[in-house]
Amino acid sequence: MPQTTVNLRSLFLLSPDVIFLNHGSFGACPREVFTEYQRWQLELEINPVEFLGRRSGELLLYARTALGKFLGARPQDLVFISNSTAGVNAIAKSLKLKPGDEVLSTDHEYGACDNTWELVCREQGATYVKAAIPLPFDSVSFCDRVWQKVTPRTRLIFFSHITSATAVPFPAQELCARARAARILTMVDGAHAPGLIDLDLEKLGADFYVGNCHKWLMAPKGSAFLYARESAQPLAQGLVTSWGYSERTALNADQEAYAGRETFERRHQWQGTRDIAAFLAVPAALEFRRKYGWERMRAECRTLAALTQERILAANGLAPVVSGDDILQMLAIPVPRAGAERLQKWLFNERRIEVPVTAFGDMAFVRISVQAYTTQAELDALVSALAEFYKDKGNS
Ligand SMILES: Cc1ncc(COP(=O)(O)O)c(C=O)c1O
Repeated sequence: MPQTTVNLRSLFLLSPDVIFLNHGSFGACPREVFTEYQRWQLELEINPVEFLGRRSGELLLYARTALGKFLGARPQDLVFISNSTAGVNAIAKSLKLKPGDEVLSTDHEYGACDNTWELVCREQGATYVKAAIPLPFDSVSFCDRVWQKVTPRTRLIFFSHITSATAVPFPAQELCARARAARILTMVDGAHAPGLIDLDLEKLGADFYVGNCHKWLMAPKGSAFLYARESAQPLAQGLVTSWGYSERTALNADQEAYAGRETFERRHQWQGTRDIAAFLAVPAALEFRRKYGWERMRAECRTLAALTQERILAANGLAPVVSGDDILQMLAIPVPRAGAERLQKWLFNERRIEVPVTAFGDMAFVRISVQAYTTQAELDALVSALAEFYKDKGNS
């Protein structure tokens, strides 16, 4: 376990009754970050007009500047959104696809994002094309496999930075560079990436990048960002059309500062009255990570995830789907397919272990998340529970 004198689990609000190995789905917000989130909500309610009308622009800029520093992006290239799904929708619905155009993706994408692109393509007479990326994952051949599906009609390539069901890190920078050279737009779905891997968005070079702060950055739910490269910003419309779209009388002081300028930030930031407390708590989440040395602990969590995988695979005889540097602290560990539909429920109902069981093709996985608060005893409990589940012949 990470070497620290602090009981890290006690810093979180997580129920002690559950072995929580699913940080990946919805994150977990530390108590002190959650307190800061609630403090912002209270401050808003004490003086709503002062807060939303006069201060929100400056407060959001502060939060975006802190986040931008962490992500390697300028604050004017980032806007807060509620979740990655919303960011994917904003871009998919902004693009003016023509009949015959193609949006290229992979067969590892998150279902909600697939739904978005399928709908947008269907409505505009375009085609959503999938490149097959087989497992075990081979990062060297990834770009070529995607590129085999590029045609003169490819308008945009959409792909996960870290896949959902299979927890595979795709080499985003390489694919974005190749697409840029071919004048094809890129959108990276980095829902899991912030906090799980190091990010430098300017270097990464995507036209659009969406990421969650409420997963591995441990910010409150409803905090995420959409990044757009300066050259791509005119293409990105907000999901909500509001004050940022005209020179009409400004709604508040923040809007007045931008009067007459239609910027990416202005189009996306003001979406009508809403609770911005989760966005404003992002700097506190970044400070939490710094204070407790979360970056340092990440390497230890990866090692633990890899060791847990070794034990599980030694028992079931299956092969890993990622190796070496592609092993992250969120790791999809292969388990026998037979019985896998029952496994997640059984682990939770019988052992109080919260862990997703995912599938890809004919493979099944337990997708563990080892966070700095995870204990060795909790991972041991998973290893023994799996052994017990599969010993029962009814499950294999
Ligand atoms: C790869 C990927 N993209 C998008 C999402 C959607 O994230 P959100 O629910 O925050 O919109 C997820 C959620 O886990 C995901 O795994």
